[in-house]
Amino acid sequence: MRSFSMPKMAISLLLAILAACILIGINETGYNRSSAALDDIAEASRTRGTLNRLLQHVLDAETGSRGYLLTGDPRYLEPYNAAVGEITQNLDNLRLLHTSNADEFATLSQLGRNVQRKLAEMDLSVRMRKQGNEEAWKFVLMTDVGKEHMDAIREQATKLIDASTARMEVSQVQVRRSLLLSRIGIAAVAMAGLLAFYLYLRQTTALKLAGEQQQQILQQERDLLERQVRERTATLAELATHLQQVREEERGHLARELHDELGALLTAAKLDVARLKSKLGAQAPEFAQRLQHLTETLNSGIALKRRIIEDLRPSSLSNLGLTASLEILAREFAERSGIEVATNLEPVELDESSQLTVYRLVQESLTNVGKYAQAEQVDISVRNSSGQVEVDIKDNGKGFDVNDVRSSTHGLAGMKHRVEAAGGRLVVQSQPGTGTRIGATLPCSAQTA
Ligand SMILES: Nc1ncnc2c1ncn2[C@@H]1O[C@H](COP(=O)(O)OP(=O)(O)O)[C@@H](O)[C@H]1O
Ligand SMILES: [Mg+2]
Repeated sequence: MRSFSMPKMAISLLLAILAACILIGINETGYNRSSAALDDIAEASRTRGTLNRLLQHVLDAETGSRGYLLTGDPRYLEPYNAAVGEITQNLDNLRLLHTSNADEFATLSQLGRNVQRKLAEMDLSVRMRKQGNEEAWKFVLMTDVGKEHMDAIREQATKLIDASTARMEVSQVQVRRSLLLSRIGIAAVAMAGLLAFYLYLRQTTALKLAGEQQQQILQQERDLLERQVRERTATLAELATHLQQVREEERGHLARELHDELGALLTAAKLDVARLKSKLGAQAPEFAQRLQHLTETLNSGIALKRRIIEDLRPSSLSNLGLTASLEILAREFAERSGIEVATNLEPVELDESSQLTVYRLVQESLTNVGKYAQAEQVDISVRNSSGQVEVDIKDNGKGFDVNDVRSSTHGLAGMKHRVEAAGGRLVVQSQPGTGTRIGATLPCSAQTA
């Protein structure tokens, strides 16, 4: 999943950066072009203004000079002189503005010359009027020279104004184009952004969906595995129960064989010895001692057989009941091991197989005490507790770490299995140095029935 999404994400990021760069580029170019165009427009507008003022001042100068010529009133010279001063200034300004375009510069030069000529013509007329040379200034006034100069000035100024207007229009078109470009660029990038966002959302949703599906598959696999483990555990538990059952049956069978066959043989032998003893007793005293020894050996054999049978299949359990059998077990253990055993055994109601379970539990616990605990005292108790039977075997031995039991040992594990198969629970409490407690809780037979 990741290997697919990573390049896609990288491409998306790259596209976003590219779009942003394009947008910034378009904006910057538009801004620069618009600024230049606005500068051009401002310059053209200044040119037009200056040209208009120049024309106005030339006209003012002409009006002033005409007034003076016709009336001889020196007041008319005032506006005339002022206009002449302004004209020179305007011409200088125009020259500064028109240095870039060669054509316009040439027209401007012509305009300048014509203005100078017009000024010279007016100056001449005024001077002649001042000197009282009537004929001369009237002659100048009558000729068409002044009008020709004026027409040329008007024509050239109009040409320059038109050129400025044309430049202004070009610049305006330029500004409009830049604005349009920015508009299109922004719209396109906004659309691309929206598209990218939509794609991102779609991809995120797809990723989430895929994640959920994977999670679901994993959950299913986990469920399947758990089910399999449960099934296997149940099968193993059944197998263990079956093996314990078979073992008990086998032991019962062996006990019966020993009792019936070996018992019969030993009893027959004992009877024969008794008969021999009564017949030979008086005549051969040298055999009497040997026969006595044989009788004792046979008795030991019979006792051994009984012990083995008892160990294989406690007959006391069916003959005397659980309490008595446990008493016997405890007494024999105490005699054998020299460890003090205290019992507190209440009569309890348990079915035959649960009784055997309790018997085996106490038997295995005592074996462990004898083997490992190095204890001085063992307490065995069987009690009724709210419809259940509680069995406790406590020793004051060296204890052990319950979490650190070798997996190759089966005594405690077998006990636990046996108790749980009978519907009960087994607890093993121990710590190094604190002794050991094996506690089992089993349901009463009334409960299981
Ligand atoms: N009463 C006890 N005191 C001290 N250690 C014990 C006692 N009972 C069991 N253990 C420890 O627990 C281990 C497991 O016991 P068990 O399952 O009966 O296996 P096994 O008797 O075959 O060794 C023993 O090896 C022993 O170290
Ligand atoms: Mg053991």
